[in-house]
Amino acid sequence: MSPGSKRSGKRSGDTDPVPAIDARKLTKRYGSGTSLVKALDRLDFRVEKGEMVAIMGPSGSGKSTLLHLLGALETPTSGTIALAGENFEGLDDRGLTLLRREKIGFVFQFFNLLPSLNALENVMLPALIAGRRDPKVEKRARSLLKRVGLARRERHLPSELSGGEQQRVSIARALLLEPELVLADEPTGNLDSRSEATVLDLLSELNSDEGHTIVIVTHDTTAAAVAGRVSFLRDGRSAGEVAGGDSAKVIRAFAKLESPASKTKKRRSSAKSPRGKR
Ligand SMILES: Nc1ncnc2c1ncn2[C@@H]1O[C@H](COP(=O)(O)OP(=O)(O)OP(=O)(O)O)[C@@H](O)[C@H]1O
Ligand SMILES: [Mg+2]
Repeated sequence: MSPGSKRSGKRSGDTDPVPAIDARKLTKRYGSGTSLVKALDRLDFRVEKGEMVAIMGPSGSGKSTLLHLLGALETPTSGTIALAGENFEGLDDRGLTLLRREKIGFVFQFFNLLPSLNALENVMLPALIAGRRDPKVEKRARSLLKRVGLARRERHLPSELSGGEQQRVSIARALLLEPELVLADEPTGNLDSRSEATVLDLLSELNSDEGHTIVIVTHDTTAAAVAGRVSFLRDGRSAGEVAGGDSAKVIRAFAKLESPASKTKKRRSSAKSPRGKR
């Protein structure tokens, strides 16, 4: 299947009373005084269960910040987040750690696999960290490796796998504990175009066939078009959204976002904050 040819598991019109993600008026500020950066500015962001949503926006627009807040890796300056009806607010460090570990699967641009563990052990890692090493976990890890097409690579170390294969291992790892939500920050940003297509197809199928809720940050309009909905950010605020599936439409909307007027704005904001991509 080519990217974009598959429909996302759930269209944005089908609403469930309890969304997978309900984030309201999210603000995240970094620094203070002249070095103050508003990475997110009163952003509302909702994702229904079973949806696949892509987040796009210029560099520095707040995409990673949003993902980090949704993944409870950082806390907002203000605003609220609920994951499947559970509010982050009021959870202590232990509560947040458990939430991250049990309910959210992360896929990063640089795979983040442990180099000394083989593929199977890497997939099992979230359970090992949680102190669970039982035959059921191993069975699930094996079936996930099979699901991502790597059944015969179980014993391989990350250094013995291609970039695309490593990313597929990290997707299997993200799914081990059956998370409510999978968060992927530029999961294809470090891959060649063939591996990119394989990884996108896999994410798309996990959404459409198995109902996983996925939020993916990407710079790539092809990757974004695989999602059911593409949500745009600019200067930490929502800059509209379009339905996925149609890459031409996504390209047009993204081009509008990157128009000269927005670029001037972007230059101004990046002059304030010299940090680049992360
Ligand atoms: N820890 C931090 N300290 C200070 N400023 C930060 C920090 N993290 C992010 N920022 C700033 O917040 C803004 C949003 O950053 P973010 O990383 O979310 O952007 P992004 O949309 O993911 O960009 P890219 O496409 O380059 O990855 C940027 O101006 C950035 O410099
Ligand atoms: Mg980023």
